[in-house]
Amino acid sequence: MAFPTRGQTRYVAGAMIELRDIHHRFGDRIILDSVDLTIVERRVAIIGSNGSGKSTLVRLLNGLLVPHRGTVRVDGMDTRGEAKAIRRKVGFVFQDPDAQIVMPLVDEDIAFGLKNLKLSKDEIARKVEDVLSRYGLEHLRYQATHTLSAGEKQLLALSSVLVMEPDYVVFDEPMTLLDLRNKKMMATVLATLPQVAIVVTHDLDMLSGFDRVLVMDSGRIVMDGPPATAIPHYVGMMS
Ligand SMILES: Nc1ncnc2c1ncn2[C@@H]1O[C@H](COP(=O)(O)OP(=O)(O)OP(=O)(O)O)[C@@H](O)[C@H]1O
Ligand SMILES: [Mg+2]
Repeated sequence: MAFPTRGQTRYVAGAMIELRDIHHRFGDRIILDSVDLTIVERRVAIIGSNGSGKSTLVRLLNGLLVPHRGTVRVDGMDTRGEAKAIRRKVGFVFQDPDAQIVMPLVDEDIAFGLKNLKLSKDEIARKVEDVLSRYGLEHLRYQATHTLSAGEKQLLALSSVLVMEPDYVVFDEPMTLLDLRNKKMMATVLATLPQVAIVVTHDLDMLSGFDRVLVMDSGRIVMDGPPATAIPHYVGMMS
């Protein structure tokens, strides 16, 4: 899969996410343990077994979670004090689309975040129109969101995040509910998206074009390298 190079995109030189000495617990259980990570690449995947801490780790990236110890900085801003600005910068596509669909109708849900940006009605309408057609949702524009199929909800959740044009997009298992055609569409989205994408996935096939793959196990990053090294390491761990 061909990925855009930095020169072709909106990638901002010096864009960076930094995690330093991260520890996180739920109750007595240590979920993330001594995680140090600097992300400057455009396509980064996080793989690992169920419960290894992937979703917890990515929730730290836009301040949805604040670590018990350590710091997370996005372009120099700390998630501990600047969560609102960071949420504008880091879009998050949830594993469960119901967690992020907020409005009764499809077009309203896509427009929801844009309404906080002081855009004119025309600009909002243009942006909504654009994502509806980009992600094949035009025919669902006036449908009630709760009546969408699971895969349609996943595409709507994706559209509502991308319409905001964040600098970074985190995807937590974006393919689980999609049929083959929409999986291909999502692969194309990941290949062409101008932003930095950080993708948690169990779909190892989609990672060949990625710059970097992190393998998690029991709350730690146990392997960090290109797909050709990291994926066999993970497969070996699982066998
Ligand atoms: N809010 C919470 N309260 C208690 N435990 C939690 C909470 N959130 C996550 N955990 C636990 O933390 C561990 C890591 O969860 P996480 O969701 O990060 O795993 P994951 O690597 O994303 O797994 P999967 O591949 O199944 O999505 C799991 O054992 C989970 O039960
Ligand atoms: Mg998860």
